[in-house]
Amino acid sequence: MKHQQLIEQLSLTQKAFLMSGASTWETVPYEALGIPAIFLADGPHGLRKQEGASDHLGLNASLKATCFPTAATVANSWDPELGAEIGRSLGAEARNNNVHVVLGPGLNIKRHPFCGRNFEYFSEDPYQAGKMAAAYTRGIQENGVVACPKHLAANSQETRRMTTDSIVDERTLREIYLTGFEIAVKEGQAKSVMTAYNRLNGVYANEDDWLLQEVLVKEWGFDGFVVSDWGGSNDHVMGVVAGSHLEMPTTGVNGAKELVDAVASGRLSESLLDQRVDELLSVVLATASNKERSQRTLEEHHEVAKKAARESIVLLKNQEVLPLKAKTTIGIIGDFAETPRYQGAGSSVVNPTQLDTTLEVIGAYDLDYRGFAKGYHRSFKEDQKLIDEAVTLAKQVDTVLLYVGLDEISESEGLDRTTLSLPDNQLALIKAISAVNSKVVAIISAGSVIDMAWDEEVQGILHGYLGGQAGPSAMLDVIVGQATPSGKLSETYPHDYRELPAARDYPSATNQTVYQEGPYIGYRYFETVQKAVKYPFGYGLSYTQFAYADLEISQTGISCLISNVGQYDGAEIVQLYVAKESELIYRPEKELKGFTKVFLKAGESQRIEIPFDDKTFRYYNVASQEWQVEPGEYQLLVGASVQDIRLSGSCQQKGQEVVLSYDVATIPHYFSGQVAQVTMAEFEILLGKEVRLLPFTKGQELFMNDSISQLVYAKSGAARVVYHILNGILKRSEKKGKPNLNILFIYNMTFTAVGKMTNGMANHEMMEAVVVMVNGRFWSGAGQLFGAFRRNRKLQKRGI
Ligand code: BGC
Repeated sequence: MKHQQLIEQLSLTQKAFLMSGASTWETVPYEALGIPAIFLADGPHGLRKQEGASDHLGLNASLKATCFPTAATVANSWDPELGAEIGRSLGAEARNNNVHVVLGPGLNIKRHPFCGRNFEYFSEDPYQAGKMAAAYTRGIQENGVVACPKHLAANSQETRRMTTDSIVDERTLREIYLTGFEIAVKEGQAKSVMTAYNRLNGVYANEDDWLLQEVLVKEWGFDGFVVSDWGGSNDHVMGVVAGSHLEMPTTGVNGAKELVDAVASGRLSESLLDQRVDELLSVVLATASNKERSQRTLEEHHEVAKKAARESIVLLKNQEVLPLKAKTTIGIIGDFAETPRYQGAGSSVVNPTQLDTTLEVIGAYDLDYRGFAKGYHRSFKEDQKLIDEAVTLAKQVDTVLLYVGLDEISESEGLDRTTLSLPDNQLALIKAISAVNSKVVAIISAGSVIDMAWDEEVQGILHGYLGGQAGPSAMLDVIVGQATPSGKLSETYPHDYRELPAARDYPSATNQTVYQEGPYIGYRYFETVQKAVKYPFGYGLSYTQFAYADLEISQTGISCLISNVGQYDGAEIVQLYVAKESELIYRPEKELKGFTKVFLKAGESQRIEIPFDDKTFRYYNVASQEWQVEPGEYQLLVGASVQDIRLSGSCQQKGQEVVLSYDVATIPHYFSGQVAQVTMAEFEILLGKEVRLLPFTKGQELFMNDSISQLVYAKSGAARVVYHILNGILKRSEKKGKPNLNILFIYNMTFTAVGKMTNGMANHEMMEAVVVMVNGRFWSGAGQLFGAFRRNRKLQKRGI
């Protein structure tokens, strides 16, 4: 052990305390022994360090910090170096605010476009997500601050997020849901990782020793510390045994007592506890000893935020309307131009240092700006008067800049979406404007996929996702051609979300989320079954055009010549997909295995290279429990999107002889990719065990790991009343258009988590008594609760 001498000076109780937070955001210090507290703070697209009392989801405002575009946005830049630059800025602000761990990046895979947190995640593709996350991690850590990729793993649904069990077969898990984390840990050298709230194949991620020991430490060489998500440590002892180091936030003295008792009973060996303390201290001491302040300024960071927003804008459509010529008469329509939607709701919310709005910055551009009309209300309320005003303006101008998108309530941590559609009042506005003006440019603000059936009605579409505090001016730079759009989509836009195989059960109707579609998510599905989509993965237009030529394939990678053959300087994102026909190994039609972004002046050419790496040809062989390469011929497809393949060639790989864990004939839908029809029996073959779904029923018995939202099924009438009160508050907040984060959080919490999230006021024993009450045995539960309350109060006062 690295810190043996120090650890020998700590009592068992002191060591146990180190494994839980001292507060919402800090670890436990022992100043006399030279062990400082470290501060952890969100998050992924800007620092959220709360001023004064902290409350996890932000009732108290946080310090001002640069609000960068969210991960979903920056992913569209396909530029890891840009990600690293954001990371550097985040790390610098953390450093200067005495924050030691930045809780991000978030890189869960977008299994379904409904996930309320997709705006915080990069991609539907693990390779792309991993490369971006590794870059953020590197950038953050260059400041001596620790990055914390999250949430490991298979955390792709918000509904009942602490209760759901993500049931995933091992090959899919490794190839789709773990590969991004593998890249972030190996290439980014992340010094901490946050575990997910959910269970993974029956075991809470935070207490999954296979995940934390075998995979994270042994296979990926992770040497940092593992932190639970906030309130996500279920059984603290099992967590520590499995390889989790820190449960957050503080649980008063309860967490430490659980560990001390576990050592006494033999459930936890003191030497293993010492090892966890040692591993945690290695990071704590290293990061806390770095006191140097960063010289970077907030003004510089605003520019980084602007650059990131600009490089990430995706041009979806352009019928010779963009870029706007100087002096074009324009009208600006849409509430988002006045009050931008630039980040998502939840624990990632940043209090920006400054905030551009389109209406405030428009004067800086050489356009003949004739006026603004709000067009719609942020909530879904219809208002014909607003539409009429907008139509009047649209008639008077050459070009309309029409700002539309999703409002605050449509995507948030803690809830999943139920539709991809824009609100009806915005759709009505689009129709009305396009009827009177034939040069309409729609500018979209939304952190995730939306339905785009209306795209026929407008002549230009720019998607800015959630562009952070400088998003509006970045967008105008592109509109007037000061910059050429170069972003490409990191997720598929389907015609109809019901076509997605995961849509069969999303969010899951039970506490089990069965990933029955296997690896066929996003483009992997649509390409395999050759179903048309609205906009494919990797798609994005430019003001200029690029030609691809002269593909060369070597042992170590591909190279080709990219030429800018259009009129504008601009950047192209070149994507490498790999495909293989196989009768033994089912696989998607093609998979992304490399990409590069190249900036070329008009008329310029450059040979680009995309090297192969250990991921290029591999698949996970469950029978032999290792990554292998299937021998044979591989297609190498180089393109401008997953559908727009410009060059192709092939190569041979030697690989290893294939030994299968399944009989090919028994899983036909995995071979055809028609996973919308896959049967549970087929899935069970991949999983290697039976799946027993446990549907919710009225009056059912609830358990400690059920969620508060399940009170609706409770035996006790009083418990059901509590549910209806919570639900009523949620519905009211929805109507107001602002998510109630604290209620959303409680709604998805388990009874166990409630016992952990009250700073010791409630504990596990008390919540067990509550569950007895919820299950209809009121007086017996109340008696238990009274006793448990007294014992807990004594314990909190007396300590261990
Ligand atoms: C979120 C995490 C976040 C943590 C701390 C949780 O609710 O899931 O992503 O880092 O809160 O705010």
